Amino acid sequence: MKCSINFCFLLVGASYAFQLPFSVPFFTKQQVTTVEDSIVDATPRIAIIGAGAGGSSAAFWISKAKERFGVDVEVDVFDLESYIGGRSTTVYPYHDHSLPEIELGASIFVKVNKNMWRASEEFNLTRRDFHEEEGSMGIWDGQQLLFTIGGSWWDTLKVIWRYGVLSPKRTKDVVSAMMQKFLTLYTPEAPTWDNLSHLAEELGWTDLVNQTTDQFLQAAGVSSKFTHELVEAATRVNYGQNVDAIHALEGACSMADSGAVGIKGGNFLIFEQFLKRSGAKVHLNTTVASITHRSASSHDWTIQTKSGETKHYKGVIIATPFHTSGIKLSPSLGPKIPPQPYVHLHVTILVTNSSSFDPTYFGLAPGTHVPKMMLTTAEGERQGGPAPEFNSISYHGVVREGEWAVKIFSDHRIEDELLERVLPQNSVRWVYRKEWYSYPKLPPTDTFPPIKLDTGLYYVNAFEPFISTMETEIIAARNVVQLLLSDKFASSICGPRISSSETGPAAEPPAPPNKADEDFVLGWDC
Ligand SMILES: Cc1cc2nc3c(=O)[nH]c(=O)nc-3n(C[C@H](O)[C@H](O)[C@H](O)COP(=O)(O)OP(=O)(O)OC[C@H]3O[C@@H](n4cnc5c(N)ncnc54)[C@H](O)[C@@H]3O)c2cc1C
Ligand SMILES: *[C@@H]1O[C@H](CO)[C@@H](O)[C@H](O)[C@H]1NC(C)=O
Ligand SMILES: *[C@@H]1O[C@H](CO)[C@@H](O)[C@H](O)[C@H]1NC(C)=O
Ligand SMILES: *[C@@H]1O[C@H](CO)[C@@H](O)[C@H](O)[C@H]1NC(C)=O
Ligand SMILES: *[C@@H]1O[C@H](CO)[C@@H](O)[C@H](O)[C@H]1NC(C)=O
Ligand SMILES: *[C@@H]1O[C@H](CO)[C@@H](O)[C@H](O)[C@H]1NC(C)=O
Repeated sequence: MKCSINFCFLLVGASYAFQLPFSVPFFTKQQVTTVEDSIVDATPRIAIIGAGAGGSSAAFWISKAKERFGVDVEVDVFDLESYIGGRSTTVYPYHDHSLPEIELGASIFVKVNKNMWRASEEFNLTRRDFHEEEGSMGIWDGQQLLFTIGGSWWDTLKVIWRYGVLSPKRTKDVVSAMMQKFLTLYTPEAPTWDNLSHLAEELGWTDLVNQTTDQFLQAAGVSSKFTHELVEAATRVNYGQNVDAIHALEGACSMADSGAVGIKGGNFLIFEQFLKRSGAKVHLNTTVASITHRSASSHDWTIQTKSGETKHYKGVIIATPFHTSGIKLSPSLGPKIPPQPYVHLHVTILVTNSSSFDPTYFGLAPGTHVPKMMLTTAEGERQGGPAPEFNSISYHGVVREGEWAVKIFSDHRIEDELLERVLPQNSVRWVYRKEWYSYPKLPPTDTFPPIKLDTGLYYVNAFEPFISTMETEIIAARNVVQLLLSDKFASSICGPRISSSETGPAAEPPAPPNKADEDFVLGWDC
């Protein structure tokens, strides 16, 4: 789950020179076009479209099956971008690689995100703590600062003072119960699923996904003041959506906030390592234009790139949101994927020589201390007041002596004019703007996109309208690889214990886990 209150701080003083830690093996165009069908059939291949969290981990999971069971398969990973990581990518202040990088997309994960955590350990990557880095947080409604806090999220007297004891406790109980269920997805007993409604049912989450966060918390006895201020601050910073719009499962994920970390150098380093260790061939700058049946009777697939090259595959994994990918599918398949609107998020990153926001913007007297992280609620707007001019604005640590980074999330472009009001005049030295289709709009629902589009063709990002994080994309990829290996290779990531395959795996399963239960991570330890 990703976190709310510890969101996205950049480690103070960190400096990291960018260096690609390995050279990505690329196919040249010539090699792609000269591959013969006969060779194709000799060594079965899987194509993965997308080199983000989902696609890179899919390649990694396949390599685990190769390693354990000798599954004979080659993997091609395609991404239209020139970098690995997708929505996990960084930017450098002034584009100066000697300064500490700033996450432009996905910033944080937590310890219960067991794949991200495990990967960072095994790949020797340095985690840095965002926890309580700068401590202070305020909630702004567009007109007034409703609440400020300096300590931890749950346990402070100020929270109790404003919201009472019961609402925070009941919300915390909802989140803990959700987390306990979530953790079962890492155990050997975890199901393999081809229908997310069924998974929701199995986890007891149907009533979390079929109600708004507002409705669910109200039924759980949480006061509307708490939901509309603190919880909404979290859903807005994490998912750009209000509590009366977003379903309660993602609302609960927004509140799961202990021990937020990120990878020094960028979270994408995990995804680079997944690909490097998988041995997959990575084709960057390569747009996939279409995925079609190889022939009317076959369950093999033909991929055509934008530049016209074609290649055949036994299995294809789509690891990008389908509707923005521009991919054409066989006519019978495209309509199976229902339209899925995404939040159009504007990320504005700036460098300022001011160590603080301008207090007068927030209605405070000049010289007053202003929290370093300002979250927002739509409560003012719901009462007929003005909407906040952003979803959140936060300091992200020191860029260098006398300069700080600030990150703004908003649903529209942030003009220089606003920057001049929220920060002291003439203090902004560098601005970088990025627009994302960041995560799905997440209204309550009881249906989800299909995961298996056809035999041999699977869709990782079907998981996103359920939960959208780096970690859950890795889990969704594990599940999809499991389905594909079972359907097309009579194999699996871990062996028959978790396989639903009728034909069973090609070899003996690995030895049973000898790690303590809580360290066990399905797929890594089997
Ligand atoms: C601003 C922001 C903040 C976020 N904060 C967090 C956070 O703190 N923690 C967290 O866990 N998550 C966060 N998220 C969500 C997280 O980024 C996503 O859930 C996750 O990264 C999605 O990974 P993915 O691999 O499924 O998709 P993507 O990362 O989107 O990867 C898909 C890839 O497919 C490629 N592609 C698309 N079409 C084609 C094509 N036709 N041919 C070839 N390649 C194609 C794209 O270029 C892209 O690289 C955030 C997202 C954003 C934007
Ligand atoms: C991808 O394209 C970019 C920009 O055109 C170029 O700088 C980069 O070298 C290319 N990368 C690869 C791996 O082909
Ligand atoms: C990680 O670092 C440890 C200790 O420095 C080393 O023993 C180990 O081989 C490293 N692992 C990898 C995968 O690089
Ligand atoms: C939501 O799911 C629960 C549990 O299955 C069910 O009882 C309830 O009727 C559903 N509510 C809506 C609004 O669909
Ligand atoms: C920031 O820079 C501006 C001009 O570039 C200057 O006027 C101002 O005094 C500086 N502020 C601080 C706090 O150094
Ligand atoms: C998943 O199962 C539900 C209920 O059984 C069904 O209505 C829905 O169509 C299924 N979804 C997909 C994508 O197959």
